[in-house]
Amino acid sequence: MKFANDFLFGAATASYQVEGAWDQDGKGPTNWDEFVKIPGKTFEGTNGDIAIDHYNRYKEDIKLMAEMGLESYRFSISWARILPTGTGEINQKGIDFYNNLIDECLKYGIVPFVTLYHWDLPLPLEKAGAWLNKETGDAYVEYAKICFNAFGDRVKHFITFNETVVFASLGYMSGAHPPGIQNDPKKYFDVTHNVFYAHARTIIEYKKLKQYGEIGLSHVFCPAYGVDDSEENIFAAMHANQYNMNWFYDPILKGEYPEYVVKQLEASGLLPNWTDAELKTIKQAAPLNDFMGLNYYQPMRVEKINGEVEKVEITRENSTGSPGNPSFDHVYKSVKMADKKYTKWDWEISPEGFVSGLVMLKEHYGQIKFYITENGLGDEDVIINGDILDTPRIDFINDHLCAVREAIKQGVHVKGYYAWSAIDLLSWLNGYKKQYGFIYVDHANDLARKKKASFHWFKEVIETRGESLKD
Ligand code: BG6
Repeated sequence: MKFANDFLFGAATASYQVEGAWDQDGKGPTNWDEFVKIPGKTFEGTNGDIAIDHYNRYKEDIKLMAEMGLESYRFSISWARILPTGTGEINQKGIDFYNNLIDECLKYGIVPFVTLYHWDLPLPLEKAGAWLNKETGDAYVEYAKICFNAFGDRVKHFITFNETVVFASLGYMSGAHPPGIQNDPKKYFDVTHNVFYAHARTIIEYKKLKQYGEIGLSHVFCPAYGVDDSEENIFAAMHANQYNMNWFYDPILKGEYPEYVVKQLEASGLLPNWTDAELKTIKQAAPLNDFMGLNYYQPMRVEKINGEVEKVEITRENSTGSPGNPSFDHVYKSVKMADKKYTKWDWEISPEGFVSGLVMLKEHYGQIKFYITENGLGDEDVIINGDILDTPRIDFINDHLCAVREAIKQGVHVKGYYAWSAIDLLSWLNGYKKQYGFIYVDHANDLARKKKASFHWFKEVIETRGESLKD
């Protein structure tokens, strides 16, 4: 089966992970510019000051993407380039940069798919309480409107937020991301609600402009499965999905929070500080979502916790997706299973879990339009005689694209696939060691770009609309 002609084959990046130029042309500092400088926070103290210098080399990068045959490029806008302090005066050079980037994509017929927030928050807003402060949401809506007015004539796909669960949980539960707070579920839930409220207001504003594009948001898609079919582990999976999926997807797609979680949060005093008016806006906005973006890397295998819980110390390594940690409410823990395959960073490789998860989503939410906005393999690529032989990445993407095809066959409405990532970039906590791209960046040689084996392979997949994939 070929993928339909209007299915977009793309690849993605995010501003902080590629742009560099952290203080160039009037950009203001962000939470990440500050956080990475705290000793021990990132692998070997790596930071995005220069990253892969996409800011200055975007023309070369887009040319390579075009050569690969990419139909769409998902990138994010750095808020602090547009509004250096988060609010107030616009930095025209920031607007110019993204106009140039968008125009460069369009020159090659590459569809720009723009994320408005991929975690880099202007520093003054971080200092004022970040997403715990409702004024950050007000500032975000204004920033989004500026972007719509500046770029919306050419950008027809906007993502409001990338992976709320990650910046909320790593920010306020594991402390691995800014602001580095640990074990504060009250703040975690407050942040999620403030973000969803900002999302709702933003899409309402977008629709008022009648730009006739699409708008949605991207969530982590990490379906939970019990480690076995016992009643208690089926329960554990249901509970995990309620908290990690329904809590995030329901307010966007149904306009209300899941009752199961709401009741428990109410009982434990963790309910967000929401108002009736905010809940009403979330309800009003739900039908205006045009799509949901899904970032799938792995499923979660869960086991019910009985009795004492072993304390797992949070480290940089286990804070971003590897199994082991108990849930905040000690109901279940995620488990590494002997019969599953894992990456070097202990992320499970499961195309099967992807298919069943997508089908589960369809059954739960109906015919929602989905884009796979991230999927890929973090690896240390093998280089032989200068050739980057990233065969494991080819296998990974092959199998996950086959999974998408299978889900489409089973009636799931998926309209595009964005590999993470278009080009090697800064992994937030793992430096440049963990690679994801089709294009290699040589940090020992003036950031020279080189095509990997996967570059040529993906080109063929796109050209054949998936017919070259191996089932
Ligand atoms: C996603 C993020 O969560 O995972 C990306 O949206 C990130 O920005 C990707 O790079 C991979 O994560 P990591 O930790 O392997 O770099």
